[in-house]
Amino acid sequence: MKILFVCLGNICRSPMAEAIFQYKIEGLGWSSQVKVDSAGTAAYHIGERPDHRTLQVLDSNNIFTSHRARQVSAYDDKEFDYIIAMDGNNLSDLRQKFPSAKILMMRDYDKEHQGSAVPDPYYGGITDFEEVYEILDRSIETFINQEIQPAVSQSNA
Ligand code: 4NP
Repeated sequence: MKILFVCLGNICRSPMAEAIFQYKIEGLGWSSQVKVDSAGTAAYHIGERPDHRTLQVLDSNNIFTSHRARQVSAYDDKEFDYIIAMDGNNLSDLRQKFPSAKILMMRDYDKEHQGSAVPDPYYGGITDFEEVYEILDRSIETFINQEIQPAVSQSNA
């Protein structure tokens, strides 16, 4: 099973989501069955490491990432079982690129604020990145429980 998290630049929100998801999957012992990646709808930051504030917030939660930014590619809808957007702009860009793919919104899995966007922290400060971490942490927890856990159980049955 393969999951792709998507934001605009692929240096703040989606690489943070990828790293948190990977950390949880490793903790569950499912790394061989569940693969994760992240990408941006824009090309601005291709090849770059995540924003230093994303790395700082991950580091303070003992989570590490080796990701380098990439843009969404033409075949990602064939490659991934789940494509998860951070905000409405990501969603409409992805729908244009992949008209027949099912695209999910990250905060559809946020029990506290269902349906809204993961706010773009790029022009904010470290507290904005910390807020994004909390949103992603609880949304990914629910996503794993609702979507990944049943699929892993079925494949082990
Ligand atoms: P991200 O944040 O989409 O969460 O990676 C941004 C990163 C870069 C830019 C905007 C948002 N930018 O305009 O360069």
